Amino acid sequence: MPVHGLTPILLCLLPMWRILTPVASHPHHSRCQLIQRTALCNDAELSSVPVGLPDNIEELQLNYNHIKTLQDSALLHYPSLKTLSLACNSLEKLESNTFQNSKLLESLNLANNNLSSGSLALKNLHGLKALDLSENRLDDEMAATLLENLTSLEYLNLSGNLLRRVDETSFKDLHQLKELDLQRNFIFEIDSAFDSNSKLQRLNLAFNYLPCLTDFHMTQLVVLNASYNIIEWFISRQDLNDTFQLETLDLSNNRLLFFPFLPSHSRLRNLHLSHNVINFYERLSHNVTNPNSTTTVEFYNLKSYMQNVTAQLWDDDLHGDISSLEILDLRGNQVDSFPEGFIQKMPKLSRLQMCINCLETLNLTAEQFSGSLYELDVSNNRLKQILADEETLTTLSNLTYFNLSLNGLERLPLGLFSSLPSIRSVDLSYNNIDICLSEEAEITTHTVSSCVDWNNIVSLRQLYLKGCNLKRIPNSAFRGLLLTHLELSDNPGLNVKESIQSLSRTLQHLGVGNTHIHGFDFSRFHSLKSLNISKNSLAHLPPSLLNLDLKVLDLRDNRLSTIHSAHAAALAPKLQTVFLTGNPFNCCQTEWFRTFETTRTISIVGQSEIECEDLFGTARISDHSFSCFKENGESIFWYILLLLPVCVSFLGISIIVFLTFKPKLLQKSIKKKCFKPTSY
Ligand SMILES: *[C@@H]1O[C@H](CO)[C@@H](O)[C@H](O)[C@H]1NC(C)=O
Ligand SMILES: *[C@@H]1O[C@H](CO)[C@@H](O)[C@H](O)[C@H]1NC(C)=O
Ligand SMILES: *[C@@H]1O[C@H](CO)[C@@H](O)[C@H](O)[C@H]1NC(C)=O
Ligand SMILES: *[C@@H]1O[C@H](CO)[C@@H](O)[C@H](O)[C@H]1NC(C)=O
Ligand SMILES: *[C@@H]1O[C@H](CO)[C@@H](O)[C@H](O)[C@H]1NC(C)=O
Ligand SMILES: *[C@@H]1O[C@H](CO)[C@@H](O)[C@H](O)[C@H]1NC(C)=O
Ligand SMILES: *[C@@H]1O[C@H](CO)[C@@H](O)[C@H](O)[C@H]1NC(C)=O
Ligand SMILES: *[C@@H]1O[C@H](CO)[C@@H](O)[C@H](O)[C@H]1NC(C)=O
Ligand SMILES: *[C@@H]1O[C@H](CO)[C@@H](O)[C@H](O)[C@H]1NC(C)=O
Ligand SMILES: *[C@@H]1O[C@H](CO)[C@@H](O)[C@H](O)[C@H]1NC(C)=O
Ligand SMILES: *[C@@H]1O[C@H](CO)[C@@H](O)[C@H](O)[C@H]1NC(C)=O
Ligand SMILES: *[C@@H]1O[C@H](CO)[C@@H](O)[C@H](O)[C@H]1NC(C)=O
Repeated sequence: MPVHGLTPILLCLLPMWRILTPVASHPHHSRCQLIQRTALCNDAELSSVPVGLPDNIEELQLNYNHIKTLQDSALLHYPSLKTLSLACNSLEKLESNTFQNSKLLESLNLANNNLSSGSLALKNLHGLKALDLSENRLDDEMAATLLENLTSLEYLNLSGNLLRRVDETSFKDLHQLKELDLQRNFIFEIDSAFDSNSKLQRLNLAFNYLPCLTDFHMTQLVVLNASYNIIEWFISRQDLNDTFQLETLDLSNNRLLFFPFLPSHSRLRNLHLSHNVINFYERLSHNVTNPNSTTTVEFYNLKSYMQNVTAQLWDDDLHGDISSLEILDLRGNQVDSFPEGFIQKMPKLSRLQMCINCLETLNLTAEQFSGSLYELDVSNNRLKQILADEETLTTLSNLTYFNLSLNGLERLPLGLFSSLPSIRSVDLSYNNIDICLSEEAEITTHTVSSCVDWNNIVSLRQLYLKGCNLKRIPNSAFRGLLLTHLELSDNPGLNVKESIQSLSRTLQHLGVGNTHIHGFDFSRFHSLKSLNISKNSLAHLPPSLLNLDLKVLDLRDNRLSTIHSAHAAALAPKLQTVFLTGNPFNCCQTEWFRTFETTRTISIVGQSEIECEDLFGTARISDHSFSCFKENGESIFWYILLLLPVCVSFLGISIIVFLTFKPKLLQKSIKKKCFKPTSY
């Protein structure tokens, strides 16, 4: 075919043609694409700024090229440039007059280069608004030199450089700066560095080596991200009467021991404190028997000793103004209880994330959560019981997501979930809570109960009861519920049969892994999309699954030896994800595997780990390298028939070889055995 033959030749000619075409004479044929006043020359193997582009271009994109130096003359021809992007080159140097003719430049991207020297090249860019210097090799002084006189700069990205210490000279001319990214440097000290940047709103200090942030007084800042440092103390300047504009503070993944000392007046909405070692020590402060215990902590400014900070550790106003807080993320800390009145100080709190802490009790009545609470996650604590009176529960009218999993819960307030009008998702997994028999619920007169009654909670959609040691579920347990997700896995021996029939119309996900379920009829569960029946010793795929529109099926760790090929063919077009490892499949009956393997829409999780058993042990199905001897002897017969001629020929060849190389031996033996020695 002529078309196929021609293409490689054309492909070879193309670079030649490109080289032969002079860039200057035909700019539209050059490696740059021109769209109005924008020239796109990305990934074009350029080693210098192209000349000969129209001199009125306003935007020049030169990312992913091999430009090493920006020469003085490089941009002379393009005085109208407003945007220049040189990311991902190997720029090492900017010559000092490079931008002498670029008075209109507003945005300069030099990210991902190898800049490692200070230069006065940018000093003429009085109109520069955005500068990206991320992922270079700039240290404190080089950066400070480069940034001199950039009085219009609003956005600066210095992430991924070699900064170690920033002080009042670092950003002194950047009076218009609004956003500064200093992520991923080696900063261990900040000394009055931002005092000249009175318009700074967003500051990112993540992934540095800051040991503390004391004397925080940037009232105009809206977002401060200081996650992934080694911060032990965060202390705001206490004597300021101004309202801090701070809305988001991220101090996660640090070493905070105390809740941060927040500004006394602020608009803080999102406070991220996960993965620290925070606890509240208020109870200790009431202990008057030890008057010598420390009550203040002092911080000395390393450089001047002029601005010592003293914090009163046990001050009542310790926590500052948290009245606007909406999200409080305290995951992975050491909190064992909340100080008195702490929760009450947050009337707008919507999400409280407390998983992996040391909470021992939770008295919802005492804490007085507000009605705006939407998500409460107290999973993975040491809770033995939750306390609440009915009145408290009805005030929690917005509570939608309640995670109580991984506690040692034995008791819950009676009617806890039926009193929460908006509750949608409840996770009670890995506790010791039973499901009430209907009679039990009715006759109980106590306010706490060791079982939960799920009847008629109409808002509930997702219920997780994994690993609760459930043995029985009353037939009427889920009556009146409209659950879409029900997770009952890891309750070995649980008999679910009748109880979940009432959910057959609504249920989309059902988890009954490791429950010893067998012989269950799934055919009425028409909405089911995801089913987990792993670890159930099943020897056959339940045929009642075949008519369902399943997308996800977990069949791991059962006793399946094969999947009937008709069943595989019925499931394959519908499934999206299937888990099959840990079954003793028979290598001779793996047609189902080919059906799944060739269906492109299925993802077989752990495909290469699925094993089958043959005469010699186990093999990986996906290798297709197992030997298969069928039990009925038919195939072994054919193998023998096939092997026999091979053996015979091999034997024959061996004998011939043997005879050829050892003729004397033959003679001797023939003489010995066949011919009697004759004496002449
Ligand atoms: C960056 O510069 C250093 C020397 O300053 C050199 O060793 C390194 O190879 C350069 N890297 C690139 C990607 O050009
Ligand atoms: C910065 O601006 C000041 C005043 O406009 C000027 O005196 C100084 O020379 C400038 N610095 C540089 C490096 O151009
Ligand atoms: C700064 O640059 C880094 C790396 O190039 C990028 O990941 C980050 O998003 C940038 N920061 C901002 C605020 O744009
Ligand atoms: C803070 O920065 C880290 C690292 O870049 C990022 O993962 C995190 O999402 C940021 N925090 C906020 C609140 O944006
Ligand atoms: C803050 O206000 C208090 C009382 O309103 C006053 O005594 C104090 O001097 C003020 N502090 C500052 C720094 O303005
Ligand atoms: C008070 O301090 C004493 C001595 O340090 C200690 O034994 C006791 O447990 C403390 N009491 C409380 C309530 O923390
Ligand atoms: C408190 O400190 C003083 C002086 O250091 C000492 O004499 C006293 O015994 C201490 N008291 C206690 C209860 O440790
Ligand atoms: C800060 O603390 C040091 C060491 O205790 C002390 O010498 C200095 O006078 C203090 N400075 C101020 C301003 O309090
Ligand atoms: C829970 O808090 C309420 C209100 O403070 C209180 O009356 C009740 O005694 C507390 N319950 C327990 C068991 O401490
Ligand atoms: C509950 O949530 C809705 C919607 O998010 C909100 O409008 C309402 O104010 C909240 N109720 C309370 C009591 O905060
Ligand atoms: C509840 O919390 C546990 C542990 O933190 C987590 O694994 C689980 O996914 C959460 N449940 C839901 C429904 O989000
Ligand atoms: C299915 O349930 C088992 C037993 O609890 C669990 O180990 C497995 O992760 C679950 N499968 C999926 C896909 O979540």
